[in-house]
Amino acid sequence: MSVDQIPQTAAEEPSDILEGLLHYKLFNEAEKVRWRMEDIPWSSIDRSKVTPNSLALVRQIALAELTTYAATRRFLQEFSDDIDFTQWMSVWFYEETKHPYALIRWMHELGETFSAKEMVRGRITAPFMKSRFGMLVTNVISEVNASAGYTVLYRMTDEPVLKLVAKNLAGDEARHATGFFAYARRAFERSKRVEEDRLDGLKVLHMWLGHNAQVQHPVNTVGLRTSNEQDMLEEWSKATADQTILEQQSVLQQQITRERALGMVSNLIGIELKGPEDIMEKIRELTPKSRKTN
Ligand SMILES: [Fe+2]
Ligand SMILES: [Fe+2]
Repeated sequence: MSVDQIPQTAAEEPSDILEGLLHYKLFNEAEKVRWRMEDIPWSSIDRSKVTPNSLALVRQIALAELTTYAATRRFLQEFSDDIDFTQWMSVWFYEETKHPYALIRWMHELGETFSAKEMVRGRITAPFMKSRFGMLVTNVISEVNASAGYTVLYRMTDEPVLKLVAKNLAGDEARHATGFFAYARRAFERSKRVEEDRLDGLKVLHMWLGHNAQVQHPVNTVGLRTSNEQDMLEEWSKATADQTILEQQSVLQQQITRERALGMVSNLIGIELKGPEDIMEKIRELTPKSRKTN
């Protein structure tokens, strides 16, 4: 690409990029709340509070976090003309790389190793959807879900260092949801296909809230690999001898995701959604008649 060929998205940016790009605002916010690996009191891990199941669960979550590599590559390809979003990817990718590191570090302190082979396996991911707006909405919801997952981990574990790590990661994921939301909002405001974008947003929401297990998205595998690991969760619940709390926490994760995702997507596309039951109705309303009869 020559310097004369300015991408459409760049042409839409204001002349002063420090004022106009979302990246700089998000970058500054990230720096203000950034936690440091060396501030985690690794030597204070309470081994009496660590169970084999908690180790297995943390390993699964760390593996699921590794899918960010493929996601970043795909984002940089699909949004290569977006100078703002692709810069913010560097912040997101850095933080998402830090997440498995923190979890692997916690395991390492307990004598658990993580091999290069596992790392390669963890990088394998499922394909993204075609719509750029849909990709952004997918990531808003998946970050909300990841944040809810770490909130649940924070509540599930009694081990204080893992608790702190889970708290930090839950905060990062919530901020990522806000970041993807900002880019999705900008894309929607500039959209020349508003109705199609609304429909894509509703479809993503429907897939997540209605058929969560079928959604092919990297971060969703955190949910798939943990909440669907029934055996592990049952064993965990036996270990904690408190199944009621475990069930409550699982319900809580789904509730947090559902409520926040509904509110955010509703706000984003300007359609009031009182509950998941409204989503399908709105999809039917927005689907063009020609497609309905096909
Ligand atoms: Fe993460
Ligand atoms: Fe994230």
